[in-house]
This record gives sequence, C-alpha cells and structure tokens, in this order.
Amino acid sequence: MKTIIEPFKIKSVEPIRFTTKEERTKLIKDAGYNPFMLRADDVLIDLLTDSGTSAMSSKQWAGIMDGDESYAGSKSFYRFEEAVKKITDMQYIIPTHQGRAAEKILFTIEGGKGKYFPNNTHFDTTRANIEFTGAEAVDILNETGKHPEIRADFKGNMDVQKLDEFINETGKENIPLCMLTITNNSGGGQPVSMQNIREVKEVCNKYGIPLFIDACRFAENAWFIKKREPGFENKSVLQIAQEMFSYADGVTMSAKKDAFANIGGFLAMNNSSLALKCRNLLIVTEGFPTYGGLAGRDLEAVAQGLEEILDEHYLQYRIRSIEYLGEKLVAAGVPIIEPPGGHAIYLDAKRFLSNVPPEQFPGQSIVAELYTVGGIRSVEIGSVMFGKYDKNGSLIPPPMELVRLAIPRRVYTQSHIDYVLEIILEVFNNRRRLKGYKIVYEAPMLRHFTARFEPFN
Ligand code: F0G
Repeated sequence: MKTIIEPFKIKSVEPIRFTTKEERTKLIKDAGYNPFMLRADDVLIDLLTDSGTSAMSSKQWAGIMDGDESYAGSKSFYRFEEAVKKITDMQYIIPTHQGRAAEKILFTIEGGKGKYFPNNTHFDTTRANIEFTGAEAVDILNETGKHPEIRADFKGNMDVQKLDEFINETGKENIPLCMLTITNNSGGGQPVSMQNIREVKEVCNKYGIPLFIDACRFAENAWFIKKREPGFENKSVLQIAQEMFSYADGVTMSAKKDAFANIGGFLAMNNSSLALKCRNLLIVTEGFPTYGGLAGRDLEAVAQGLEEILDEHYLQYRIRSIEYLGEKLVAAGVPIIEPPGGHAIYLDAKRFLSNVPPEQFPGQSIVAELYTVGGIRSVEIGSVMFGKYDKNGSLIPPPMELVRLAIPRRVYTQSHIDYVLEIILEVFNNRRRLKGYKIVYEAPMLRHFTARFEPFN
C-alpha cells in the first residue's frame, strides 16, 4: 500500500513559536499544571482538542466572504439548512452557536428533577447540561468499551440489554429521550455500529422514547462503519450517514468537529411541538431562528464543511494518520485505548503510570510532562474531569484514567505526528520519574477547565 498523503495543498500558513524546556517548566508551573491555563502561543503542537481548531478550506473562506448577514431569512441560513437536511433528513433545523448551546436548549425543555437520560457515554457538557436541570445523566456503555486493552471494532456501542433493563426499572415516563454519542468521545472516540444504532432504536420504540444522536463526529463514525461493518463496504459515507440518522428522532451537533468550522452547531428534530419550544427558547438565549447565535458567514462555513467532511480521501487520510500514531505507540509498548478512535489517541494513564494512584491524578502528571518535554498540549480525561467525592470527601474515580491527544483536522502534517510520537516515547521511557499531583483549587462544576495543581514531592 502506498503512503496515504494529506489530500490538500497548503495555501496559508501560521508559524509556531518555539520555546525551551526551561521556559516550559516555568510556564506549566505558573499555569497550575493545567494546560487549559497556558497561552496558546506557548504551545508547540496543540492537541488539547479537535474542536473549533480545524483548518478551513479555500471554499469555506470564500463562503465567509459570501455570508449573508441579514437578521432574518438570510440566504446563508437556507444553504446551511439544506446541507444539514441532506445528511440528517430532519425536518426542523435550529442553528446554535455551538454544541452545548443545542444541549442547553434541549435539556432545559426536556430535563428536570426525576428525569433520566441514558447515553453510551455522555460528553462532559452534555452531562453538565443535564445535571444542571436536576436530571440524571446515565452512561450505558457496552463492556468492551470500558477496557482500553481489548481490541474491538465498535467499542462505542451501547449495551442494549442494559438499556432495556434500565428503562424498565426507571419507568419510560421518566426518560424523555435516549442519546447515542457518535463517535463516543469520552470513551476514546470509539465508533458505534449501524447494528447497534438499529437495536437501540428498537428498544426506544418499544417504550415510545425518542432517540437523539450527538453527531459531533458522525462522518468519522460513518467511515468506521464503511471499513468495519459487513454490508457497508460499497456504500458511500453520505449513504451510511443518512442511514444512521434515519433511526434518530433528533440530533445535537457541534459543527466545530465534523463540519470543519471554528464555531457553530445545531439542533435538529422531527417533532414539531418540541421544535417550536426549542425555537422559542432559542430566541431568548441564542437569537432569531435563522441565525441562532451565529453570523451568516459562520452558517456558510458550516454548510461548506458538511460537504467536505464526506470526502472519502479526507476520511481515509484522517483515520489512517491517527491509526499510524497508534500502531507505533503500541509497538513501543505504550498503553493506549485500542484500537485508536477517530479523532484522538488516548493514553491509558493507569497502565502508563501504574505507580501513581487515581487520587494523585496520573493523567494530569502525563499531561504536564508532555508539555514540559515537548511543548505538546493534551488533556486529562479521568479523575480530574469526571471524579466525584463521596460524603467523606474521598475521590470516586471514573472507570478509566486517560490522556487525550486530539488531532485538529487538516492542521498538522505527518512530520508533526512523528514528532508527537517521539515525545510520547521519551515521556514513556522516563515514566518512573513522574510524580502524582494534588488539586489546590477547583470550581464546583467542570473543574478540569480551571483547576490548579501542585506535584507531590
Ligand atoms: N458532544 C460531544 C461528543 C463533544 O465532543 C462536544 C465537544 C460537545 C458535545 C459540545 O460541543 O464544544 O461545540 O459546545 N467536545 C469538545 C472536545 C469540547 O474537546 O472534545 P461544543
């Protein structure tokens, strides 16, 4: 097989600023060992997130110039609406400024005390928006998805039997909707199979519960279905995506991922009375229904991005580049979630730093070291992000301690990926030197964004 090359040429470049290890040692300390607190200018390779960090295409930039900034009925809205409908076939398309704004509107209407929302794994903003209303966010991931070392094709699948049991025990009247997050970001960017989407839909139908898809990375999910699920090899990614959404009653999406946009999102659904309530709330919080917190130019960028994401040369390059990094890490003995998911490599911090217990945040320790050694910014997805306290103040850790290295779309080249590999290997080979950390400041919600840490000596 020939090398899979970046399926684009570079027309505009942005220089990266180099720093020394001594400078970074001080910078990360000043940031409370939390990379969210660093200035981006002090980062060499920024793998904090793949969200809003995509390089836009020349056609997207052309769309930016062409955006219609009319307050109501903008032509850019109709282009955006058509692009979303083509893929999702939903009737009501409601633009929002990003994914969590769609979640906020949906759960403000559907949430509340005594309500439960099952998902394969809720992303942190989804969980926070649900919990903010007093409702409960429930993760019902299949068992293999909880074991980083087990290789399986669709580790993002929901456990359908457990979902059925859960609905039975909880009462269908207490479950306004069920969700599937594709790909499953918090569980390693792992895909959900078409069969699983169908089965989840069947269970939902049995109880009359609507199914919503969190579609942030729908195209990456569709690519995995094409490559891994029998019967889909000759279907186009568009056809596969259309089938995925055909089982859904609604969609939330952050266009900052698989729409190559720097901002944007939407809420889409088929239920007219729910759509009316959502639009009314949208007017209070986001804006008029034909712009929903976005400029006309942003709607153009999203519409164009939704076309480009379906390019199979792009998806092949995208998924292969991450798989390549994963293969080299595994060959060197670095523990990661296997196989790698669609948008990121997830280091398994529990095995990577087995000498640091969850209470001392092994993931945060690796994150700090990756920055210090190589200027790479990554993020902890473990006890810092999802840990809770029991009534004695002891940590209740989540099932996994991970470090995510999310790859922005179309931004870095293969040599950047090779450099990332070298730095991870260097940190891994010196892992016995790494220390645990303690939290010295934390906010009551979504603490990982602003927490400050100190290393144990
Ligand atoms: N759902 C999933 C699965 C996500 O990954 C995100 C964002 C959201 C919803 C919320 O979208 O940021 O536009 O408000 N994930 C980003 C990340 C932040 O880094 O994974 P948003």
